[in-house]
Amino acid sequence: PATASRTAEGALAVGGVGVHDLAARFGTPLYVVDEADMRARARAFRDAFTAAFADVGAHAEVYYAGKAFLCRAVARWMTQEGLRIDTATLGELTTALSAGVPGAQIGLHGNNKSDEEIELALRSGVGRIVLDSEPEVTRVADAAARLGGRAPVMVRVTTGVHAGGHEFISTAHEDQKFGLSLHAHDGETSPAMRALLAVLAREELDLVGLHSHIGSQILDAAGFDAAAGAVMALRADLAARTGVLVGEVDLGGGFGVAYLPGEVELEPERIAKETAGAVVRAAQETGTSVPDVSFEPGRSIAGPAGLTLYTVGTVKEVALPATSPDGATRLYVSVDGGMSDNIRTALYDARYHAEVVGRASRAPGVLARVVGKHCESGDVVVHDVLLPGDMRAGDLLAVATTGAYGRSMASQYNLVPRPGVVAVRDGVATPIVRRETVEDLLALDLG
Ligand code: LLP
Repeated sequence: PATASRTAEGALAVGGVGVHDLAARFGTPLYVVDEADMRARARAFRDAFTAAFADVGAHAEVYYAGKAFLCRAVARWMTQEGLRIDTATLGELTTALSAGVPGAQIGLHGNNKSDEEIELALRSGVGRIVLDSEPEVTRVADAAARLGGRAPVMVRVTTGVHAGGHEFISTAHEDQKFGLSLHAHDGETSPAMRALLAVLAREELDLVGLHSHIGSQILDAAGFDAAAGAVMALRADLAARTGVLVGEVDLGGGFGVAYLPGEVELEPERIAKETAGAVVRAAQETGTSVPDVSFEPGRSIAGPAGLTLYTVGTVKEVALPATSPDGATRLYVSVDGGMSDNIRTALYDARYHAEVVGRASRAPGVLARVVGKHCESGDVVVHDVLLPGDMRAGDLLAVATTGAYGRSMASQYNLVPRPGVVAVRDGVATPIVRRETVEDLLALDLG
């Protein structure tokens, strides 16, 4: 996190609060979020997009993608910083609403929305429902008719652009479940165009925009250029066919962050300038006006603002096969959490950085692997990291950049209660999500 600092003795402080104090007060594992950093990141995106698109005469909105990490406090921070909230489920939508976010500032996604989700969205007057399939056009229109109102909708298209760090998190290539294809497989009308025409045919629906999300952990802006071009071409095509020029284009989220020291993130100014340029070019090429735009970053706002604190338990030196390129031994450092609080390493082969934060060690660094307490060998938090050779039980270990898709993807595997989240700011620590207890888990058990 941006406010992290270290004393000469090796003690780390975040938001002006020592991590030792945090561990002592709240226990470990613990998710720590640097509120000032997360707010600053949100502001940076809002400011960069507002400025870059104002330069080309367009209005830009930023929706914080709640899937990265949402609770009431975070929803309020984002709203106070001038962002809207993107939700994808009943839980996310209800959380945003219960934080007091006005419905008009919330968007609803999902490739398989329930009736309950659609109705809550309509009743709370959400600013947009992003339609992901042709059947959904009918379902949302029928729900609006039942409730006697209208629904503002966007249509999500798959541009064929494939971007991002891992295939599981790249969502715009053709053979996957999201969005509507731009390609006319029957040689006539593409699924995206069919859905748009169906939307225009229903008087309960207001077509407010076109949507594209091309993937996640993207470090190269070129994918957004290509996606903007494809969406703008569809917009022009629809205008030519129907006379309706859609007012807004959402280019999704997916901006990559630095997980390891020395890596660079995709900066807000760069992505804002590049996308503004791409949208203007596409407008010129198609002879249409520049639309308003929106974006949905999640990871790039929450990720670097968070870290996870663990207490080290068992430390084990394991001999490697003689042929191993990694040397003779590896130090297995077990922590009191694991894949239940961070599934990303096991699921995506994600890379993280870890440091001992409680003390200054003079011991030379050794190749270590940070593992959890779960009953499987894939329970790895940090694959390879240099840690002091004198690691011992009781050491505090911090894993960086866990603010996005950490707590939000946590499980209770092995009936391990999920850690809580503490926000730190200006020397004050405030719990924003309570730690679960075994009693919480037993309360769900009806046997
Ligand atoms: N908008 C839509 C429609 C999305 O599907 C997503 C992410 C976002 C916005 C936000 O993307 P971001 O800016 O956070 O990259 N669990 C995976 C990431 C999955 C992202 C899914 N959709 C991970 O831990 O890497």
